[in-house]
Amino acid sequence: MKTNRICKLLICGVLSLMVGLLSSCDTYRRMVKERSVIMDMDMKKEPFGKTKDGQRVDIYTLANSNGMQARIMTYGAILVSLEVPDREGKPGEVTLGFDSLDGYLKGHPYFGSIVGRYANRIGKGKFTIDGKEYTLATNNGPNHLHGGLVGFDKVVWNSDPIESADAVGVKFTYLSKDGEEGYPGNLNCTVVYTLTANNELRIDYEAKTDKTTPVNITNHAYFNFVGKGDILRHVITLNANGYTPVDEGLIPTGEIRAVKGTAFDLTKPTAIGDGIKKLGQGYDHNFVLNKKKENELSLAATVYEPTTGRMMEIFTTQPGIQFYTGNFLDGSVIGRSGQAYQKHNGFCLETQHFPDSPNKPHFPTAFLKPGEKYQSTTIYKFSTK
Ligand code: GLA
Repeated sequence: MKTNRICKLLICGVLSLMVGLLSSCDTYRRMVKERSVIMDMDMKKEPFGKTKDGQRVDIYTLANSNGMQARIMTYGAILVSLEVPDREGKPGEVTLGFDSLDGYLKGHPYFGSIVGRYANRIGKGKFTIDGKEYTLATNNGPNHLHGGLVGFDKVVWNSDPIESADAVGVKFTYLSKDGEEGYPGNLNCTVVYTLTANNELRIDYEAKTDKTTPVNITNHAYFNFVGKGDILRHVITLNANGYTPVDEGLIPTGEIRAVKGTAFDLTKPTAIGDGIKKLGQGYDHNFVLNKKKENELSLAATVYEPTTGRMMEIFTTQPGIQFYTGNFLDGSVIGRSGQAYQKHNGFCLETQHFPDSPNKPHFPTAFLKPGEKYQSTTIYKFSTK
C-alpha cells in the first residue's frame, strides 16, 4: 500500500516537472498560440504569401463548432472568406474575394478590407482644422475615397491571436504615420475580429492620435448568401428613417432626407432587386441609423436570403451605414473559383460616420482629438430561417 502511494507521488512529481518544462519551452508556447482549440472554438495561423516588397503575410482561420469559419489575413486586415451554414446546416461561402494573396495584390474594389483612415469620400480631399487646410490624396475623380492611394486595406498589419472561453479572434494593430495620404497626426489603430460560439463575427475598432484628425474605419465586405450570381432576391431591412442625398460625385449635399415614400425606404423587408428597379443604377448611399442615443450598439440592418435561409443581422455603434449594391462590378475582376464578379453580384453594408463629415459640421463629428479614444463596434450575427 505504502510503496504504491510513494510510486503515485513520484509519477505525479515527474509529470508536473515535465509539464512545467514543456510550458516554459518556446516551441510549445508558439504551438499553443498558433493552433488552439478552446471548448468548441478553433484557430490556426498560416503563411499566406508575400507582398510585392517582400513582406510576409499570414492568414488566420477562426472556426466554431456550428460550421462557421472566418479567414482573415494580415494584408489589409482583410476578411478573405466567411463560411456560414445554410438552413440545412451546410456551410458555404458568403463573401466575394480571392483564393490567394495574388488576387488582392493585383487590385480589387476593397473586398473584405479594413478601410481607413477615413472610409468613404471626402469632397476634393480637403478639410480644415483650426484654420489650417489639409489636402489628402485624391483617388476617386476629384475626391478622396477609402483612405487614399495606399489606405489601410493595402498595408500589412501586426497581429496577435486572442482566445476566450467562447470566442477566438485576432487583434490587428497598425501605426498610420503623421502625413500618411495627407492626414495629420500619428494614428495608432487597433482592429479586433472575434468569432463567437453564437455565430457572430464581431469587429472592434480603436484609435488614438497625437494631432486632431478625421477617423472613420470600417470593413468593406461584399456579401452574397448564395455564393454566386446576383443578390437581387436577398431581402433587406434597414433601421434608418433618413439618408444623405449625394451629388454626381457621390458627395453628400448636406441634407438629411426622410426615406418615407422613396426607394430609400427599406424600413420594411424589401427585395434588393425591387428597390433597385425604382432607382436605376443601384444603391450607393449612406443611411442615417435610428438611434435612441449616440454610440448605442443597436440593430442597423437585416438581410435574408430565401433559398438558402441564411440571415444576417448587423449591430453597430456607428451613426450611419453605406448600402452599396456592387454597381461598379463589371466582370473584369476574376475572384474565387474563377468567378467573374458582375454588377450586383455582391452587396456591402459599411458601418460608418457619414461621408464628407469633416466638411459637414452638422453631421456627427468624425474628428478625433489627442487624449480621446476612437471606439466603434460592429457585429454581424448569422442565423437561418
Ligand atoms: C464604396 C463606395 C462606392 C464604391 C465602393 C468601391 O462602397 O461608396 O461608391 O467606391 O466603395 O468600389
